[in-house]
Amino acid sequence: MTTGLKLTIFLASSRSNGNTSKLAQAVAAERQAKIIDLNKFSISYFDYEHENTSDDFLHLIEILTESDHVIFATPVYWYSMSAQLKTFFDRFTDLLTIKKELGKKLKGMPISVIATGTDEAMPLSFTQQFESISDYLGFQLGSQLYCRCPTAFELQQHKKAIQAYVNNIE
Ligand SMILES: Cc1cc2nc3c(=O)[nH]c(=O)nc-3n(C[C@H](O)[C@H](O)[C@H](O)COP(=O)(O)O)c2cc1C
Repeated sequence: MTTGLKLTIFLASSRSNGNTSKLAQAVAAERQAKIIDLNKFSISYFDYEHENTSDDFLHLIEILTESDHVIFATPVYWYSMSAQLKTFFDRFTDLLTIKKELGKKLKGMPISVIATGTDEAMPLSFTQQFESISDYLGFQLGSQLYCRCPTAFELQQHKKAIQAYVNNIE
């Protein structure tokens, strides 16, 4: 489906070719989204002294703010988003302090979440984390799609859910 919307998927998994990556690719194929694999970028931990501003974080935020809809793709690791995505979100603190002009652009940004895990459903701690972050940063949070993968990601098992999810992206 082509809608002309600029969709960016931020893939934040320890495996660039694992289950979450496969889910991200399936979504990207449906809506011509661009996948940004955070493994390929250098994003350091939040630094109170802000001595890390020359890493890739600000470049990634520029890509994010130029998108019409941003999809965060993460596995559930220990009832939470991946450490890669948490580190990325920790750095959003820079946008509330030293890069406020860029931070203002986050307000109203439509986002959604796609996730994989082995448990039956997404843990409440996981969904609430995205709700709270969205409330704080002013994101418009859409769906949170969860694909249960007891073993490897099987596209056929998730096709319907993916279709329903992508049809809702606007
Ligand atoms: C460190 C670690 C922690 C995990 N914690 C959970 C969890 O809390 N809940 C869950 O359902 N699955 C958990 N899993 C399983 C993964 O979410 C699941 O295998 C996922 O599809 C892996 O995606 P990936 O290939 O992108 O890493 C965990 C896996 C790992 C490696």
